[in-house]
Amino acid sequence: MENIHQHEPKKVFLETFGCQMNDNDSDRLLGFLKDIEYIRTDKPEKADLIIINTCSIRDKAEQKVYSTLGRFKELKKENPGLIIGVGGCVAQQEGATLLKRTPHLDIVFGPHNVHKIKELLNEAGNKKRVVATGFNEKIDDDEYAIGPSADGIKAFISIMRGCNNFCSYCIVPYTRGREVSRKSADIISDAQRLASSGVKEVSLIGQNVNSYGTSGGGDVSFPELLRKIARVDGIERIRFITSHPKDISEELIYLFKDEPKLCRHIHLPVQSGSNSVLKAMRRGYTREEYLSKIMLLKRLYPEISISSDIIVGFPGETEADYEDTISLLKAVRFDNLFSFMYSVRPGTKASEFTDHLPLEIKSERLHLLQELQKEITFSRNLELVGKTLEVLVEGQSRIDPNEMTGRTTCNRIVNFTTEARGSGSLVDVVITNASPNSLKGIHNERGNICS
Ligand code: 5AD
Ligand code: SF4
Repeated sequence: MENIHQHEPKKVFLETFGCQMNDNDSDRLLGFLKDIEYIRTDKPEKADLIIINTCSIRDKAEQKVYSTLGRFKELKKENPGLIIGVGGCVAQQEGATLLKRTPHLDIVFGPHNVHKIKELLNEAGNKKRVVATGFNEKIDDDEYAIGPSADGIKAFISIMRGCNNFCSYCIVPYTRGREVSRKSADIISDAQRLASSGVKEVSLIGQNVNSYGTSGGGDVSFPELLRKIARVDGIERIRFITSHPKDISEELIYLFKDEPKLCRHIHLPVQSGSNSVLKAMRRGYTREEYLSKIMLLKRLYPEISISSDIIVGFPGETEADYEDTISLLKAVRFDNLFSFMYSVRPGTKASEFTDHLPLEIKSERLHLLQELQKEITFSRNLELVGKTLEVLVEGQSRIDPNEMTGRTTCNRIVNFTTEARGSGSLVDVVITNASPNSLKGIHNERGNICS
């Protein structure tokens, strides 16, 4: 009886901020921790280990980390054996400063050091405070030894890390290092393993997937990698994110024609509609070049859905520059848009610019742009009413248990009525209603049920 607690697994509380790369790092982190018998808890007060996986892409990321860490100070007092760690991009940037400023913090580790968590925990267990922010120019085999976890029928596979683009506003090349591709064989074996555990849809992720294969272990081009994944039995759908407009090739554009497993959606961040802002951002393309790629995609695939990212209020952005962005939104009519106010990232080129805009102007411009986009998104959704779309069924709708929910190949959420109850199948749904952020429909039972 008295030994009952000895076999209790240790518990980790993990909080993740930021992008899909961070989600993927957290996923790998949990895999490495599972190997040493940690289980996850959603209660920090029950945890033996607390980790915050941080993001520094925008805003006052550092302050957010310090205030989050503040919440755990008391817990450490109550339980001196508790280990607290900070990972991710803020950890990479701040390094030892984080330890200095936070006496109750034990471990700081950057994105290249996720796989070292076991060693770091050993050191912390020996009452050492450790910083692991070294960069690794290659990808070691053991970094991705624990493949991505299968969370239901969809999963993410990281195909590369880092970025060589150095857009003038962006912190990523400094926190995630130079671009390195994983070996295609490792990516395929991740996809095969996921497929055998029931995953139907994989999303390939990287900061700039179009340049996959040009660095590190990448031994095939990105379109070739997509073709190889399409041949994996059981994988029914493939998505990829993020594509850089300057690197998207005609070969990739034409691949949508030959490869039905490729979802009819592309995320193509434009950032601004003004040529002078694009130049100052160092994006490597003009408004005209961007628009011509969009028009080719729309001409070849009228049903394709296109989403994008925009930054408003970049240093020196004039009223006319902003109007160029508004007119680009009207010309393209994105299906979905993620828009942000420019925020200074220390160490980037743009942080040296002197013509920063006042907050009121940035926030006014963002507000107007978002209002316009809301209308466009809604009207793009309305255009789908009456159409029959293929949906990957994800499960019961949380809002109405009589309905099932899933996503269309063009990345819309659809709630629909059906006799069938299983998830993981591809079904045809007739769209009957559109709301600003989702669709409603009826399963077309006579239609094709693929699996
Ligand atoms: N300020 C505002 N937005 C930014 N992004 C990246 N860096 C910044 C910054 N300094 C946005 C870009 C990018 C998205 C992931 O975040 O739009 O595409
Ligand atoms: Fe940042 Fe530009 Fe690289 Fe995207 S392409 S991660 S915006 S530097």
